[in-house]
Amino acid sequence: MKQNHSKETDLATQTEIQKYGTVTNRPLSLDHKVRLASADGLNQILADTMTLRDMYKKHHWQVSGPTFYQLHLLYDKHYGEQAEIVDALAERVQTLGGVAIAMAHDVVETTRIARVPRGREDVTMQLFRLLQAHELIIDETRQLAKSAVASGDDGTNDLLVSDVLRVNEFQVWFVSEQMAGAGIADQQEGAAAHSVVVAHG
Ligand SMILES: [Fe+2]
Repeated sequence: MKQNHSKETDLATQTEIQKYGTVTNRPLSLDHKVRLASADGLNQILADTMTLRDMYKKHHWQVSGPTFYQLHLLYDKHYGEQAEIVDALAERVQTLGGVAIAMAHDVVETTRIARVPRGREDVTMQLFRLLQAHELIIDETRQLAKSAVASGDDGTNDLLVSDVLRVNEFQVWFVSEQMAGAGIADQQEGAAAHSVVVAHG
């Protein structure tokens, strides 16, 4: 069984015309190593975005409770927006001469988002997992946007800031306002605001 599997894997690899993790030449006036670094970073964000996209669909199907209908709709809206980001990221990788990560088995091996159980979870847990995944993506997107602009890859920077970062930040607003107690500053922020008032007063 194991032998068959490795034969299948060998056969699959033999048919590849470009290896994953490589970039072909493109007349983009960007060094090979710049395109390679951008493609690598974009593939990481792509794998994490595909995971977040699928988490939204899972939650869309499995949500329960008094907010069922509004969350059922909100989750599907965000799913659609994340699906658009997935396509934009993958096509940017290909534009740079790279190979976009695509299949679920490869995404599982690559994503940094914690594994979500198969069974249903309550709304609070759903929202918590979504916010955690968004924050991870926002963080890696900001980092790659900065390194891309520093190395002259303005196109990647623009895509990351305009289409990935801002949509994720916007979705975080909608998801976090669904949390119980949202809109009330947490203790740390409350204390910071108080000390500002004291300092100015
Ligand atoms: Fe649906």
